[in-house]
Amino acid sequence: MKLRDLDFAALPRWPAAFNQVPKWAFEDPDVFDLELERVFRGPLWHPVAHDAELPKPGDYKTVTVGRTPLLVIRGDDGQVRAFHNACTHRSTKLAMAFRGHTGDIECPYHRWVFDTRGRLRACPGEAEYPPDFKRADYDLAQPRTAQYLGLQFVSLHPDPPPLLDWMGHMAEPVRDALGGDGRLTLLGYQKVRYQSNWKVYIDNDAFHAPLLHAAFRMLRWQGGSGRQSRLPAGHMMILSEVASQPGDGGLLRDPSVIAYHGGAAPRNKAPAQAAGSSLLAFWPLTAIANHLDIFNIRYANPVGLDQVEVHYAYFAHADDDAQMVRHRLRQSSNMIGPSGFVSLEDATVFLRIQQALDTEPGATYFLKGYRDGADLTETKQNDEAPNALWWEHYRATMGFERHSGAS
Ligand code: FES
Ligand SMILES: [Fe+2]
Repeated sequence: MKLRDLDFAALPRWPAAFNQVPKWAFEDPDVFDLELERVFRGPLWHPVAHDAELPKPGDYKTVTVGRTPLLVIRGDDGQVRAFHNACTHRSTKLAMAFRGHTGDIECPYHRWVFDTRGRLRACPGEAEYPPDFKRADYDLAQPRTAQYLGLQFVSLHPDPPPLLDWMGHMAEPVRDALGGDGRLTLLGYQKVRYQSNWKVYIDNDAFHAPLLHAAFRMLRWQGGSGRQSRLPAGHMMILSEVASQPGDGGLLRDPSVIAYHGGAAPRNKAPAQAAGSSLLAFWPLTAIANHLDIFNIRYANPVGLDQVEVHYAYFAHADDDAQMVRHRLRQSSNMIGPSGFVSLEDATVFLRIQQALDTEPGATYFLKGYRDGADLTETKQNDEAPNALWWEHYRATMGFERHSGAS
């Protein structure tokens, strides 16, 4: 737990201009400590798993939210639960693997044993514990939990808002992104550790997509119109249209890798999204993305001040036939992730930003689509201006005061 509060007086004020972000926000260790308290332990929900990732009783995955390690496990009663991943005796971390399958969970230190529902079942030497010792007092601790179509959320705050209130208007697009019914099957994971502050990662604007990513242009992945929405709780929605069936212009040996089948038989998209892509980013940084026939949940968490780890979990819909599953797998692994067309470029830019923060000017600027005083809640698909609204939510959450004069 944090023992001291940030010395606000020691920090420069937040710029008065709405479209500026001070560079110290990305590189100050005290700011990061405060984020762990005010953002990651704040009254909000973190998506941590979809039921499809834990199909059988005893299946588990480990996640970290802020700096709190959690264990998400399907109990022998079929129910998925989240626990603090720490022995209730002396706080030894229990599960170390990213994923696995287990019966009872045994702590190696003094061999306490917990079942898959988190109940303490056995503890050596119990006869010599204090007379009022009761095992039930030492069941694994649970964060607040909620679920939506199989997507499991946790909150480290004692009193988070109801999940659907917090999701607001994003609930419907999330439902569509989860195939309309949440009946998914897991295809696999890619893990990426970006060498940048977590906010550099989530600040990855919609402006850059066709500019940085040559593949977007060459393969005509993005075109037509589209829109971005920013919600009061800090969520971001980018709903893009693809003007026509993407083409490779003869660049690919096998253009079927970028074929789009979802339009003919929508499996994970509502009709309105059938010819496009969507990125639904929960505040503060986990997102659900659809591009062509790729569907992934991007669980993200800072590893420290200057690293963020993203676990891309790829899914198919339970009704997909074997051919569609194969298509989704090929497309997923060829477009996004370490060997894909896109993520490597983002990773390079994130690193270059992180390396250049101790420079003048002291702020970064959102310009495309920006007008002073304009409403940025609904904007065009390739504007960067709406990112300013994300930052306003961040600034208010953190309690930073804006500079009163011109900056
Ligand atoms: S710390 Fe787990 S049994 Fe003692
Ligand atoms: Fe990008």
